[in-house]
Amino acid sequence: MGAGIAEVLARGGLAVVGVEINEDALERGRGHLKRSTGRAVQRGRLTEEGQRDILGRVTFATGFEGLAECDLVIEAVPERLDLKHTVFAELDRVCRDDAVLATNTSSLSVTEIAAGTGRPTSVVGVHFFNPAPVMKLVEVIATVRTEPDAVSRVAELVTSLGKTPVTIGDRAGFVANRLLFGYLNHAATMLDSGHATRDDIDAAMRTGAGLPMGPFTLMDLIGLDTCVQVLDAIYAESRDRRYAAAPVLRELVTAGLLGRKSGRGFYSYD
Ligand code: CAA
Repeated sequence: MGAGIAEVLARGGLAVVGVEINEDALERGRGHLKRSTGRAVQRGRLTEEGQRDILGRVTFATGFEGLAECDLVIEAVPERLDLKHTVFAELDRVCRDDAVLATNTSSLSVTEIAAGTGRPTSVVGVHFFNPAPVMKLVEVIATVRTEPDAVSRVAELVTSLGKTPVTIGDRAGFVANRLLFGYLNHAATMLDSGHATRDDIDAAMRTGAGLPMGPFTLMDLIGLDTCVQVLDAIYAESRDRRYAAAPVLRELVTAGLLGRKSGRGFYSYD
C-alpha cells in the first residue's frame, strides 16, 4: 500500500519521501513503483517522460529524519498498534508542528493511534483502497480530537489527486470495509460449508452481479491476513457474528497462505 500511495501522490505532482524499514524493503518499494508506472507506459496511459517525472518526485530513505519538512505524513506500516505507536512517536519527534499525521490503517482505531502521540489533534485516518493508483475512494477519518482544519486539508488534497474523499467518524471498518467484509466473510463461510465452490462463487459474483472480481480473487488481492485483521476489529467492536472470520480464512493465514503477496491464498500465483 505504501508504494501505491506514494505513486498516487507523485502522479499528483507532489514531492514524496518514501520511508522504509531497511534497504531491501526500499528496493521492493522502488521496484513496485517502477513496475506500476511501467505498466501504464506500456498501456499508453503515461509517456516515458511522465514516468521519469513521477519516479523523480519520489526520494527514498530508511530513517525518519527525511520527513522533517513534510506537510503530510501517511503511515502504512503493518497493522500492529505497538508498531504504529513506535512510528508515531518518531513522527512526533521529527515532523513540523503544523504537519498532518495520517494513518492508512484499515483495522485499528485511529483514536487509539492518535492517543499515543503528543499531538492527537493533528492525527487523521486516510484510508486508501487496493490498488491505490486505481481505486477512487479515500476514506478520511476524523477522531473526536482531530482539528477540523486537518480534516479539510486532507480532503482537499485527496480531491486534488483525482480521488473521492468521504469524511467519516472512527468506527471499526469505517464505511466501505464494514459493508464489504460482511459480504466477503459470507462468501468464505459458504465455501466452508460446502454451499458452492470457490470458482462458482467467484464466477457468480463477477458475471451475475457485475463485480470486477469475485470475492476470493478480491480477498487474495487484499491479503488474507488483512482480511482477518479487519474482520476481528469489526467483530470486537460490533459483536456481530457476520464478522466472525470464517475458519477457512484463519486456516489459510495460519498456514502462511496470505494471497497474492505470498504466492498462494485461495488461488496460486506462480
Ligand atoms: N497497481 C496499479 N494499477 C493497476 C493495478 C495495480 N496493482 N492493477 C491494475 N491496475 C490498473 C491497470 O494498469 C489498468 O489501468 P488502465 O485502465 O489505465 O490501463 C486498470 O487498473 C485495469 O486493470 P486490468 O485491465 O489489468 O484489470 P481489471 O480491469 O481486472 O482491473 C482491478 C483490475 C482494478 C484490480 C479490478 O479488478 C478491481 O477494481 N477490482 C476490485 C478491487 C477492489 O474492490 N478493491 C478494494 C479492496 S478493499 C480495500 O482495499 C480496503 C481494505 O482496507 C482492505
